[in-house]
Amino acid sequence: MWKSSAISLACSGKKTSTWLYKSSDASFRNLNEAQISDRIASSRERVGNEHSRCGTPFSLSPVGGKVVRLHSCGVVPRGYYLRRLANYLVSLSFRPDFFSVPNCNWNTMSRCLVTGGAGFIGSHLVERLLDQGHSVDVLDNVSTGDLVNLRGVVDHPEFRFFQGSITDPIAVTEAVRGADVIYHLAAAVGVKLVADDPVRTIETNIDPTDAMLRLAVQGGQKFFLASTSEVYGKNPREVWSEVDDLVFGPTTKPRWAYGCSKAIDEFLALAYHQKFGLDVVIGRFFNVVGPRQVGDYGMVVPRFLEKAKRGEELTIYDDGSQVRCFAHVREVVDAVTTLMETPAAVGEVVNIGSDRAVSIKELADAAIRVAGSDSKVCYKTYESAYGSNFEDIRRRVPDVSKLERLTGQKPSMPLDEILSDILNTPVNGK
Ligand SMILES: NC(=O)c1ccc[n+]([C@@H]2O[C@H](COP(=O)([O-])OP(=O)(O)OC[C@H]3O[C@@H](n4cnc5c(N)ncnc54)[C@H](O)[C@@H]3O)[C@@H](O)[C@H]2O)c1
Repeated sequence: MWKSSAISLACSGKKTSTWLYKSSDASFRNLNEAQISDRIASSRERVGNEHSRCGTPFSLSPVGGKVVRLHSCGVVPRGYYLRRLANYLVSLSFRPDFFSVPNCNWNTMSRCLVTGGAGFIGSHLVERLLDQGHSVDVLDNVSTGDLVNLRGVVDHPEFRFFQGSITDPIAVTEAVRGADVIYHLAAAVGVKLVADDPVRTIETNIDPTDAMLRLAVQGGQKFFLASTSEVYGKNPREVWSEVDDLVFGPTTKPRWAYGCSKAIDEFLALAYHQKFGLDVVIGRFFNVVGPRQVGDYGMVVPRFLEKAKRGEELTIYDDGSQVRCFAHVREVVDAVTTLMETPAAVGEVVNIGSDRAVSIKELADAAIRVAGSDSKVCYKTYESAYGSNFEDIRRRVPDVSKLERLTGQKPSMPLDEILSDILNTPVNGK
């Protein structure tokens, strides 16, 4: 069954190794949920017995053919320091001043930490960073994300997954250690989740960001902060540029908690940049869509496409004249990675999204058309879905001229192309 081929039990009260299990007879890929749970349970029992000597609680989490755990009393994967040393030596060999090789970029070997890397945007970012030759660690508690999103990278030698929460200071400290660049995407997201649980939103989105920024100041990491168009609140301007006012509704309406919490993150990031010289780039994402996004937390595109595929009625809240702009996740990831390689972007807030305005009714029509469906649409009040305390934003269109100026590009994939890419991409790689 389980072959503990890479178990290390350095559990003598000092550092503890990450536990890496590989299945000898079949990979996780071929197992169903029940089989995975069984295997984790039996591994947990065995590891728990062995590990009881240090009395530390533990958790195991499956990722493809591996189970990797983040130990709450400290984690150093087996061979970690050797690999760091090897990476460092290789990176030295790429430094122009080391062998005087002109035009070499010694940053090509960065170790990146992606918080929220099991999520929709995070998993696409992880793939891109690995493709670019970086090493990637993911810290994610798999609350709204899904390990299945990481199927494509799980066997990559430069990929590691840590299951843990950004609200756990030890997990964060251990995950940040050794990183050169931090992409901070983990957050409580989704209009519905935020409206349902404002406490979780505030707890997840503020203190952990502060802690991570502090660690980055100490460790000298470059930092990308994922922010959101929600920080503009209900600013009535037709098009929002980065210097525009933030216009929130009253604190009695929980939906503003999300935008406010991200705005505080931005203040913190800019303060650490100004006071301590932290290299930080803040990206304000507008509606990002693409394969792997799920409709469970109120995301409109997956919700519409699912209904259209099944020939069921699409529910539009309010009258459908609300305006949004939809950008494909691959183009958003392009923007993020390019910004992080652009010195002029450091210390800047940048809108990231498409600037093509689409009404929700137009989106519903496009979803039906692209799916080749004969679904109808129906209209409901916001109140019926989000309660009487909900307040919507009528129009959300970014000015992306700053993004274009800094990177020479902006998301521009047409809506129908985005929708058909989502429809034609197998769900969860199956
Ligand atoms: N998708 C969009 O349109 C959009 C728009 C604006 C901003 N954003 C921002 O982009 C980032 C990624 O969003 P997404 O759409 O990929 O959402 P997502 O839910 O797919 O990803 C968020 C990830 O963070 C993880 N996470 C949540 N709480 C955590 C915790 N306490 N500890 C560790 N991990 C935790 C989740 O499990 C998930 O994998 C978020 O910061 C979000 O605010 C997204």
